[in-house]
Amino acid sequence: MKADILLYNIDQLLTMDQGKKVLRGGEMGVLPLIEDGAIAWKDGAIVAIGHSSEVNFEATLKIDCRGKIVSPGLIDPHTHLVFGGSREHEVAEKLAGTPYLEILAKGGGILDTVRKTRETDSESLYEKARVHLNRMLSFGVTTLEAKSGYGLNEETEIKQLEVVKKLHQEHPLDIVSTFLGAHAVPESYKGKEELFLQEMLKLLPRIKKEELAEFVDIFCETGVFSVEQSKEYLNRAKELGFAVKIHADEIDPLGGTEMAVEVGATSCDHLVGASDKGKVMVGQSDTVAVLLPGTTFYLNKEKYADARSMIAHGAAVALATDFNPGSSPTENLQLIMNLALLKLKMTPEEIWNSVTVNAAYSIHRSDVGRLSLGSPADVVIWNAPNYMYIPYHYGVNHAHMVFKHGEKVWEEGVRYE
Ligand code: NIG
Ligand code: FE
Repeated sequence: MKADILLYNIDQLLTMDQGKKVLRGGEMGVLPLIEDGAIAWKDGAIVAIGHSSEVNFEATLKIDCRGKIVSPGLIDPHTHLVFGGSREHEVAEKLAGTPYLEILAKGGGILDTVRKTRETDSESLYEKARVHLNRMLSFGVTTLEAKSGYGLNEETEIKQLEVVKKLHQEHPLDIVSTFLGAHAVPESYKGKEELFLQEMLKLLPRIKKEELAEFVDIFCETGVFSVEQSKEYLNRAKELGFAVKIHADEIDPLGGTEMAVEVGATSCDHLVGASDKGKVMVGQSDTVAVLLPGTTFYLNKEKYADARSMIAHGAAVALATDFNPGSSPTENLQLIMNLALLKLKMTPEEIWNSVTVNAAYSIHRSDVGRLSLGSPADVVIWNAPNYMYIPYHYGVNHAHMVFKHGEKVWEEGVRYE
Protein backbone atom coordinates (compact mmCIF):
# COMPACT_ATOMS: atom_id res chain seq x y z
CA MET A 1 0.00 0.00 0.00
CA LYS A 2 1.23 3.48 -0.76
CA ALA A 3 0.81 6.12 1.89
CA ASP A 4 0.71 9.82 1.16
CA ILE A 5 3.15 10.66 3.92
CA LEU A 6 5.39 8.61 6.17
CA LEU A 7 7.18 10.01 9.21
CA TYR A 8 9.90 7.70 10.52
CA ASN A 9 12.82 7.62 12.98
CA ILE A 10 10.70 9.71 15.36
CA ASP A 11 12.54 9.92 18.70
CA GLN A 12 9.22 9.93 20.55
CA LEU A 13 5.85 9.46 18.87
CA LEU A 14 3.20 10.65 21.34
CA THR A 15 0.10 8.69 20.39
CA MET A 16 -1.78 9.92 23.48
CA ASP A 17 -3.96 6.87 22.99
CA GLN A 18 -5.08 5.20 26.20
CA GLY A 19 -8.24 4.04 24.44
CA LYS A 20 -10.23 6.58 26.45
CA LYS A 21 -12.07 9.70 25.38
CA VAL A 22 -11.33 11.55 28.58
CA LEU A 23 -8.64 11.20 31.21
CA ARG A 24 -9.29 11.86 34.88
CA GLY A 25 -7.06 12.28 37.90
CA GLY A 26 -4.19 9.78 37.82
CA GLU A 27 -4.93 8.79 34.21
CA MET A 28 -3.69 12.21 33.20
CA GLY A 29 -0.20 11.24 34.43
CA VAL A 30 0.12 8.52 31.78
CA LEU A 31 1.52 9.44 28.37
CA PRO A 32 1.48 6.65 25.78
CA LEU A 33 4.40 7.02 23.38
CA ILE A 34 6.50 4.95 20.98
CA GLU A 35 10.28 5.39 21.02
CA ASP A 36 11.78 5.36 17.51
CA GLY A 37 8.29 5.51 16.07
CA ALA A 38 6.79 5.86 12.63
CA ILE A 39 3.39 6.94 11.37
CA ALA A 40 1.84 6.95 7.91
CA TRP A 41 -1.36 8.36 6.52
CA LYS A 42 -3.32 8.29 3.31
CA ASP A 43 -6.19 10.51 2.19
CA GLY A 44 -6.07 12.33 5.51
CA ALA A 45 -6.41 9.28 7.79
CA ILE A 46 -3.78 7.30 9.68
CA VAL A 47 -3.04 3.92 8.06
CA ALA A 48 -0.06 2.74 10.11
CA ILE A 49 1.50 3.56 13.44
CA GLY A 50 4.21 1.75 15.38
CA HIS A 51 7.95 1.23 15.74
CA SER A 52 10.05 2.42 12.76
CA SER A 53 11.04 -1.18 12.04
CA GLU A 54 7.37 -2.24 11.76
CA VAL A 55 6.06 0.55 9.54
CA ASN A 56 7.50 0.15 6.05
CA PHE A 57 5.33 2.09 3.65
CA GLU A 58 6.16 3.46 0.26
CA ALA A 59 5.04 7.07 0.47
CA THR A 60 4.81 10.12 -1.75
CA LEU A 61 6.65 12.02 0.96
CA LYS A 62 8.93 10.39 3.53
CA ILE A 63 10.24 12.52 6.37
CA ASP A 64 13.14 11.47 8.57
CA CYS A 65 12.27 12.70 12.09
CA ARG A 66 15.54 11.85 13.85
CA GLY A 67 16.03 14.31 16.72
CA LYS A 68 12.36 15.25 16.67
CA ILE A 69 9.14 14.26 18.38
CA VAL A 70 5.65 13.94 16.90
CA SER A 71 2.27 14.51 18.55
CA PRO A 72 -1.38 14.97 17.61
CA GLY A 73 -2.24 18.53 16.58
CA LEU A 74 -2.87 20.61 19.69
CA ILE A 75 -6.41 21.64 20.60
CA ASP A 76 -7.23 25.03 22.06
CA PRO A 77 -10.67 24.64 23.68
CA HIS A 78 -11.31 28.24 24.81
CA THR A 79 -10.69 31.30 22.62
CA HIS A 80 -12.42 34.57 21.81
CA LEU A 81 -11.16 34.52 18.23
CA VAL A 82 -13.23 37.16 16.44
CA PHE A 83 -13.16 40.78 17.62
CA GLY A 84 -12.46 44.28 16.39
CA GLY A 85 -9.39 46.28 17.44
CA SER A 86 -7.20 45.66 20.47
CA ARG A 87 -6.78 47.11 23.98
CA GLU A 88 -3.15 48.04 24.50
CA HIS A 89 -4.33 51.52 25.60
CA GLU A 90 -5.74 49.94 28.81
CA VAL A 91 -2.46 48.44 29.97
CA ALA A 92 -1.15 51.58 31.73
CA GLU A 93 -4.39 51.86 33.71
CA LYS A 94 -4.19 48.19 34.62
CA LEU A 95 -0.59 48.59 35.79
CA ALA A 96 -1.57 51.64 37.84
CA GLY A 97 -3.80 49.28 39.79
CA THR A 98 -7.29 49.60 38.31
CA PRO A 99 -8.87 46.13 38.54
CA TYR A 100 -10.15 44.36 35.41
CA LEU A 101 -13.77 44.45 36.60
CA GLU A 102 -13.53 48.17 37.41
CA ILE A 103 -12.34 48.97 33.89
CA LEU A 104 -15.34 46.99 32.63
CA ALA A 105 -17.75 48.76 35.01
CA LYS A 106 -16.56 52.10 33.58
CA GLY A 107 -17.49 50.99 30.07
CA GLY A 108 -14.01 49.82 29.05
CA GLY A 109 -12.63 46.29 28.83
CA ILE A 110 -15.05 43.93 27.07
CA LEU A 111 -17.40 46.87 26.35
CA ASP A 112 -14.60 48.73 24.56
CA THR A 113 -14.08 45.70 22.31
CA VAL A 114 -17.87 45.47 21.79
CA ARG A 115 -17.90 49.02 20.38
CA LYS A 116 -15.01 48.21 18.03
CA THR A 117 -16.51 44.91 16.94
CA ARG A 118 -19.85 46.55 16.15
CA GLU A 119 -18.04 49.11 13.99
CA THR A 120 -15.97 46.54 12.06
CA ASP A 121 -17.46 44.95 8.94
CA SER A 122 -17.52 41.17 8.41
CA GLU A 123 -14.73 41.14 5.83
CA SER A 124 -12.34 43.00 8.13
CA LEU A 125 -13.24 40.77 11.10
CA TYR A 126 -12.65 37.73 8.90
CA GLU A 127 -9.27 38.99 7.70
CA LYS A 128 -8.14 39.87 11.23
CA ALA A 129 -9.25 36.53 12.70
CA ARG A 130 -7.54 34.70 9.83
CA VAL A 131 -4.23 36.24 10.85
CA HIS A 132 -4.79 35.06 14.44
CA LEU A 133 -5.71 31.58 13.17
CA ASN A 134 -2.57 31.34 11.06
CA ARG A 135 -0.54 32.20 14.11
CA MET A 136 -2.31 29.51 16.17
CA LEU A 137 -1.58 27.00 13.42
CA SER A 138 2.08 27.98 13.46
CA PHE A 139 2.17 27.06 17.17
CA GLY A 140 0.82 23.59 16.43
CA VAL A 141 -2.92 24.06 16.99
CA THR A 142 -5.16 22.18 14.54
CA THR A 143 -8.57 22.47 16.25
CA LEU A 144 -9.96 25.24 18.44
CA GLU A 145 -13.10 26.58 20.01
CA ALA A 146 -14.16 30.18 19.30
CA LYS A 147 -16.67 32.28 21.20
CA SER A 148 -18.74 35.25 20.13
CA GLY A 149 -19.57 37.80 22.83
CA TYR A 150 -18.37 41.11 21.45
CA GLY A 151 -21.69 42.04 19.90
CA LEU A 152 -24.21 41.79 22.74
CA ASN A 153 -26.92 42.45 20.16
CA GLU A 154 -28.39 40.34 17.40
CA GLU A 155 -26.65 42.01 14.50
CA THR A 156 -23.11 41.81 15.81
CA GLU A 157 -23.37 38.46 17.63
CA ILE A 158 -24.62 36.88 14.40
CA LYS A 159 -21.92 38.70 12.44
CA GLN A 160 -19.23 37.18 14.68
CA LEU A 161 -20.75 33.69 14.48
CA GLU A 162 -21.02 33.90 10.70
CA VAL A 163 -17.35 34.88 10.48
CA VAL A 164 -16.44 31.83 12.60
CA LYS A 165 -18.54 29.57 10.36
CA LYS A 166 -16.90 30.91 7.21
CA LEU A 167 -13.42 30.56 8.70
CA HIS A 168 -14.21 27.00 9.71
CA GLN A 169 -15.25 26.26 6.12
CA GLU A 170 -12.38 28.04 4.41
CA HIS A 171 -9.38 27.81 6.76
CA PRO A 172 -7.56 24.50 7.30
CA LEU A 173 -8.08 24.71 11.07
CA ASP A 174 -11.30 23.22 12.49
CA ILE A 175 -13.30 25.61 14.64
CA VAL A 176 -16.02 24.70 17.13
CA SER A 177 -18.37 27.60 17.69
CA THR A 178 -19.78 28.91 21.00
CA PHE A 179 -22.40 31.63 21.47
CA LEU A 180 -21.29 33.95 24.30
CA GLY A 181 -23.97 36.66 23.96
CA ALA A 182 -24.01 36.74 27.79
CA HIS A 183 -20.44 38.07 28.00
CA ALA A 184 -21.17 41.47 29.58
CA VAL A 185 -24.11 43.72 30.33
CA PRO A 186 -24.43 46.43 27.65
CA GLU A 187 -24.65 49.95 29.11
CA SER A 188 -28.28 50.31 27.99
CA TYR A 189 -29.24 47.21 30.04
CA LYS A 190 -27.48 48.13 33.34
CA GLY A 191 -29.77 47.00 36.16
CA LYS A 192 -31.85 45.01 33.67
CA GLU A 193 -29.60 41.96 33.41
CA GLU A 194 -32.48 39.51 33.28
CA LEU A 195 -34.13 41.35 30.44
CA PHE A 196 -30.83 41.29 28.54
CA LEU A 197 -30.49 37.55 29.07
CA GLN A 198 -34.01 37.10 27.71
CA GLU A 199 -32.94 39.00 24.59
CA MET A 200 -29.94 36.73 24.13
CA LEU A 201 -32.07 33.61 24.62
CA LYS A 202 -34.34 34.82 21.81
CA LEU A 203 -31.39 34.44 19.41
CA LEU A 204 -30.92 30.75 20.14
CA PRO A 205 -33.54 29.31 17.75
CA ARG A 206 -31.97 31.24 14.87
CA ILE A 207 -28.45 30.21 15.90
CA LYS A 208 -29.62 26.59 16.02
CA LYS A 209 -31.41 26.73 12.69
CA GLU A 210 -28.49 28.36 10.89
CA GLU A 211 -25.99 26.05 12.64
CA LEU A 212 -23.99 28.95 13.96
CA ALA A 213 -22.99 27.46 17.33
CA GLU A 214 -22.93 24.18 19.24
CA PHE A 215 -22.28 25.58 22.71
CA VAL A 216 -23.68 28.42 24.81
CA ASP A 217 -21.45 30.11 27.39
CA ILE A 218 -21.94 32.86 30.03
CA PHE A 219 -19.61 35.08 32.06
CA CYS A 220 -20.70 34.35 35.65
CA GLU A 221 -18.91 37.08 37.61
CA THR A 222 -19.36 40.00 40.02
CA GLY A 223 -21.00 42.89 38.16
CA VAL A 224 -21.81 40.67 35.17
CA PHE A 225 -24.20 37.70 35.67
CA SER A 226 -24.96 36.07 39.01
CA VAL A 227 -24.87 32.34 39.69
CA GLU A 228 -28.68 32.20 39.73
CA GLN A 229 -29.05 34.15 36.49
CA SER A 230 -26.40 32.01 34.84
CA LYS A 231 -28.02 28.79 35.97
CA GLU A 232 -31.42 29.74 34.61
CA TYR A 233 -29.92 30.94 31.33
CA LEU A 234 -27.86 27.79 30.77
CA ASN A 235 -30.75 25.49 31.65
CA ARG A 236 -32.86 27.28 29.06
CA ALA A 237 -30.05 26.92 26.48
CA LYS A 238 -29.90 23.21 27.21
CA GLU A 239 -33.64 22.88 26.68
CA LEU A 240 -33.13 24.50 23.30
CA GLY A 241 -30.61 21.82 22.36
CA PHE A 242 -27.24 23.41 23.15
CA ALA A 243 -24.39 22.03 25.21
CA VAL A 244 -23.12 24.57 27.72
CA LYS A 245 -19.89 26.05 29.05
CA ILE A 246 -19.25 28.60 31.77
CA HIS A 247 -16.71 31.29 32.63
CA ALA A 248 -16.76 30.37 36.32
CA ASP A 249 -14.94 31.78 39.36
CA GLU A 250 -12.43 33.62 37.15
CA ILE A 251 -11.94 36.62 39.39
CA ASP A 252 -14.30 36.41 42.40
CA PRO A 253 -15.23 33.10 44.07
CA LEU A 254 -18.99 33.09 43.46
CA GLY A 255 -19.74 29.36 43.28
CA GLY A 256 -19.91 29.11 39.50
CA THR A 257 -17.95 25.84 39.61
CA GLU A 258 -20.63 24.09 41.69
CA MET A 259 -23.35 25.52 39.48
CA ALA A 260 -21.56 24.28 36.35
CA VAL A 261 -21.55 20.74 37.70
CA GLU A 262 -25.21 21.04 38.73
CA VAL A 263 -26.34 22.07 35.26
CA GLY A 264 -24.21 19.36 33.63
CA ALA A 265 -21.96 21.75 31.72
CA THR A 266 -19.55 20.18 29.24
CA SER A 267 -16.83 22.36 30.73
CA CYS A 268 -16.34 25.00 33.38
CA ASP A 269 -13.53 27.35 32.55
CA HIS A 270 -11.07 29.43 34.68
CA LEU A 271 -11.89 28.12 38.24
CA VAL A 272 -9.22 30.32 39.88
CA GLY A 273 -11.56 31.07 42.78
CA ALA A 274 -13.23 27.65 42.92
CA SER A 275 -14.20 26.62 46.45
CA ASP A 276 -13.01 23.38 48.05
CA LYS A 277 -16.50 22.00 47.50
CA GLY A 278 -16.39 23.08 43.85
CA LYS A 279 -13.07 21.32 43.30
CA VAL A 280 -14.43 18.10 44.78
CA MET A 281 -17.63 18.38 42.73
CA VAL A 282 -15.79 18.94 39.45
CA GLY A 283 -13.55 15.96 40.30
CA GLN A 284 -16.60 13.71 40.62
CA SER A 285 -18.39 14.97 37.54
CA ASP A 286 -18.28 14.71 33.76
CA THR A 287 -17.61 18.44 33.51
CA VAL A 288 -14.10 19.21 32.24
CA ALA A 289 -12.09 21.82 34.17
CA VAL A 290 -10.62 24.05 31.44
CA LEU A 291 -7.78 26.00 33.05
CA LEU A 292 -6.38 29.21 31.57
CA PRO A 293 -3.13 30.13 33.33
CA GLY A 294 -2.25 32.67 30.62
CA THR A 295 -5.16 34.79 31.83
CA THR A 296 -4.03 34.70 35.46
CA PHE A 297 -0.55 35.63 34.30
CA TYR A 298 -1.79 38.48 32.12
CA LEU A 299 -4.16 39.81 34.79
CA ASN A 300 -1.04 39.92 36.99
CA LYS A 301 -2.60 37.81 39.74
CA GLU A 302 -0.69 35.87 42.38
CA LYS A 303 -3.15 33.05 42.77
CA TYR A 304 -3.55 30.45 40.00
CA ALA A 305 -6.20 27.75 39.63
CA ASP A 306 -5.61 24.83 41.96
CA ALA A 307 -4.97 22.18 39.32
CA ARG A 308 -3.25 19.82 41.76
CA SER A 309 -6.24 19.60 44.04
CA MET A 310 -8.69 19.16 41.13
CA ILE A 311 -6.59 16.36 39.67
CA ALA A 312 -6.27 14.77 43.12
CA HIS A 313 -10.08 14.77 43.29
CA GLY A 314 -10.26 12.97 39.94
CA ALA A 315 -10.99 15.89 37.62
CA ALA A 316 -10.44 15.87 33.86
CA VAL A 317 -8.36 19.00 33.20
CA ALA A 318 -7.86 20.73 29.85
CA LEU A 319 -5.73 23.80 29.08
CA ALA A 320 -6.47 26.70 26.72
CA THR A 321 -5.14 30.11 25.75
CA ASP A 322 -8.37 32.11 26.37
CA PHE A 323 -7.05 34.17 23.42
CA ASN A 324 -8.81 37.57 23.66
CA PRO A 325 -7.88 41.27 23.44
CA GLY A 326 -8.09 41.99 27.19
CA SER A 327 -7.15 39.28 29.64
CA SER A 328 -5.04 37.03 27.39
CA PRO A 329 -3.75 38.40 24.10
CA THR A 330 -1.76 35.38 22.92
CA GLU A 331 -2.30 32.68 20.29
CA ASN A 332 0.55 30.60 21.73
CA LEU A 333 -0.72 27.41 23.37
CA GLN A 334 2.89 26.30 23.96
CA LEU A 335 3.30 29.26 26.32
CA ILE A 336 0.24 28.04 28.22
CA MET A 337 1.94 24.64 28.55
CA ASN A 338 4.96 26.39 30.08
CA LEU A 339 2.74 28.28 32.55
CA ALA A 340 0.87 25.10 33.44
CA LEU A 341 4.18 23.51 34.39
CA LEU A 342 5.46 26.41 36.47
CA LYS A 343 2.31 27.96 37.89
CA LEU A 344 -0.22 25.12 37.99
CA LYS A 345 2.50 22.61 38.90
CA MET A 346 1.12 20.13 36.42
CA THR A 347 3.46 17.41 35.18
CA PRO A 348 4.55 17.29 31.51
CA GLU A 349 2.39 14.16 31.03
CA GLU A 350 -0.69 15.92 32.45
CA ILE A 351 0.01 18.96 30.31
CA TRP A 352 0.16 16.99 27.06
CA ASN A 353 -3.08 15.19 27.91
CA SER A 354 -4.68 18.56 28.69
CA VAL A 355 -3.96 20.04 25.25
CA THR A 356 -4.91 16.88 23.31
CA VAL A 357 -7.31 14.19 24.62
CA ASN A 358 -9.07 16.24 27.30
CA ALA A 359 -9.18 19.43 25.23
CA ALA A 360 -10.85 17.46 22.42
CA TYR A 361 -13.39 15.97 24.81
CA SER A 362 -14.23 19.40 26.24
CA ILE A 363 -15.41 20.57 22.81
CA HIS A 364 -17.06 17.29 21.71
CA ARG A 365 -14.33 16.39 19.21
CA SER A 366 -12.95 13.12 20.52
CA ASP A 367 -12.04 11.98 17.00
CA VAL A 368 -8.95 14.20 17.30
CA GLY A 369 -6.32 14.61 20.03
CA ARG A 370 -5.08 10.99 19.73
CA LEU A 371 -3.15 9.19 17.01
CA SER A 372 -4.58 5.78 16.18
CA LEU A 373 -5.46 3.79 13.08
CA GLY A 374 -8.21 5.52 11.12
CA SER A 375 -8.06 8.78 13.04
CA PRO A 376 -7.60 12.09 11.18
CA ALA A 377 -3.96 12.87 10.40
CA ASP A 378 -3.77 16.05 12.46
CA VAL A 379 -0.09 15.86 13.34
CA VAL A 380 2.74 18.10 14.53
CA ILE A 381 6.49 17.46 14.16
CA TRP A 382 8.37 19.24 16.94
CA ASN A 383 11.99 20.35 17.26
CA ALA A 384 12.46 18.71 20.64
CA PRO A 385 14.46 15.76 21.96
CA ASN A 386 11.61 14.56 24.20
CA TYR A 387 8.09 15.57 25.31
CA MET A 388 9.28 17.20 28.55
CA TYR A 389 11.28 19.71 26.57
CA ILE A 390 8.33 21.72 25.25
CA PRO A 391 6.74 22.68 28.60
CA TYR A 392 10.27 23.41 29.84
CA HIS A 393 11.80 25.63 27.13
CA TYR A 394 9.54 28.65 27.14
CA GLY A 395 8.89 31.68 24.98
CA VAL A 396 9.80 30.21 21.57
CA ASN A 397 7.96 28.20 18.95
CA HIS A 398 9.03 24.55 18.85
CA ALA A 399 6.76 23.50 15.97
CA HIS A 400 8.58 22.25 12.88
CA MET A 401 5.73 21.11 10.61
CA VAL A 402 1.97 21.02 11.06
CA PHE A 403 -0.39 18.70 9.15
CA LYS A 404 -4.17 19.02 9.09
CA HIS A 405 -6.26 16.19 7.65
CA GLY A 406 -2.99 14.86 6.26
CA GLU A 407 -2.00 18.04 4.39
CA LYS A 408 1.06 20.03 5.34
CA VAL A 409 -0.37 23.41 6.36
CA TRP A 410 2.63 25.00 8.04
CA GLU A 411 6.40 24.59 8.11
CA GLU A 412 8.96 26.64 9.98
CA GLY A 413 10.86 29.06 7.81
CA VAL A 414 8.23 29.05 5.05
CA ARG A 415 6.16 32.18 4.67
CA TYR A 416 2.36 31.69 4.75
CA GLU A 417 -0.09 34.47 3.84
O1 NIG B 1 -12.16 34.76 29.59
N1 NIG B 1 -13.87 37.10 31.30
C1 NIG B 1 -14.48 37.13 30.28
N2 NIG B 1 -13.98 36.93 29.06
C2 NIG B 1 -12.62 36.89 28.74
C3 NIG B 1 -12.00 38.24 28.65
C4 NIG B 1 -12.56 39.03 27.52
C5 NIG B 1 -11.97 40.39 27.37
O2 NIG B 1 -11.37 40.96 28.31
O3 NIG B 1 -12.14 40.92 26.26
C6 NIG B 1 -11.89 35.95 29.68
O4 NIG B 1 -11.04 36.38 30.48
FE1 FE C 1 -12.68 33.46 28.10
